[in-house]
Amino acid sequence: MRKVQAMIPKTKGRVAWESPANIALVKYWGKQPVQIPMNPSLSFVLKKSVVEINMDYVIDPDNDFKINRFTLNGKSSEPFSEKTEQYLVRLNNFFPFLKHTQLVIDSRSTFPHSAGIASSAAAFSALALCICTIDARINEKKGDGDEFMKKASHMARLGSGSACRSLYDGMVLWGETPLVSRSSGDHAIRLSDDLINNALMRLNDAILITDSSTKRVSSTHGHALMDHHPYREQRKIQSGINLEKMLAALAEGDFTAFGEVVESEALGLHGLMMLSTPPYLLMHPNTIRILEKVRMFREETAIPAYATLDAGPNIHLIYPETVKSNVLPFIEQELTPYCEGKQWIDDRMGDGPNRL
Ligand code: DP6
Repeated sequence: MRKVQAMIPKTKGRVAWESPANIALVKYWGKQPVQIPMNPSLSFVLKKSVVEINMDYVIDPDNDFKINRFTLNGKSSEPFSEKTEQYLVRLNNFFPFLKHTQLVIDSRSTFPHSAGIASSAAAFSALALCICTIDARINEKKGDGDEFMKKASHMARLGSGSACRSLYDGMVLWGETPLVSRSSGDHAIRLSDDLINNALMRLNDAILITDSSTKRVSSTHGHALMDHHPYREQRKIQSGINLEKMLAALAEGDFTAFGEVVESEALGLHGLMMLSTPPYLLMHPNTIRILEKVRMFREETAIPAYATLDAGPNIHLIYPETVKSNVLPFIEQELTPYCEGKQWIDDRMGDGPNRL
């Protein structure tokens, strides 16, 4: 005990990071202990859907860990404060200084209020970046570069699996696969640019809010239902096949092949939910109406726009920048009538986290 305390400096300061949400094209669904994905997943980060964290810290060997204030968009928030506290207590094992740190955390989310879109990937990646920055500062390590980001991704994963993919721009892979060297279940990696055709590096994501209410079954519970799922082994095989097809589509710039995998993954994910024990359904009737509209739009116009869903009823419509002027009127005229309060977010591929 004495030895550890001797290494804890008496210091204070402030760190701030902004970090994005991400959308998975090949989905992470099911876990192995501890927080290792059952299958590799692939995603890209968003531009507008971000969480900003400002963190004031006071480190003193005589302090116990405490969050003195936690706010979200200017208001105190009990549920988020509790989640953050549980997470940071878990990180105490990796960062001895945290046991002696008192924090004031002010967070801001750009997600529209109650849009029903999970901001946890953005929030946990921003928190992980703040803690890793304090660690780098007090231990005189580099606060940027590959090793720093790898550690931040690893730490973000312990808060929420998908959060480890929010650390990088471009296409991001998490989970070990023989298809990609350096791939790991511990942290995500950015796929090198030479593996991706330029045509697939400028993607838009229209997030269509069909239902903003809280989900009946959380993602974490859904992952747990995969432990004894009748199709667990089949899902591992299928996600591997889909990842292989996705990597080929990315390399070739084949948007049709890309979109086919995207939609198969989304519907497959919801199929797994319907086949869980107990079975459950997270789609809203308007989710299905929009899926149908998107399919018909593609058939009629040959414009490549494909839909995906996370573990909820809202749709992400993914399409290349080159067809934006065709897709926007389609969204406004044909899809927003099925959105709650006509709500949708005109988002796109982003550049990754920003130190503020
Ligand atoms: C359907 O990362 O939210 O969005 O690790 O339990 O926090 P926890 O789960 P979470 O699961 C995300 C599942 C998904 C697919 C994906 O993002 O890959």
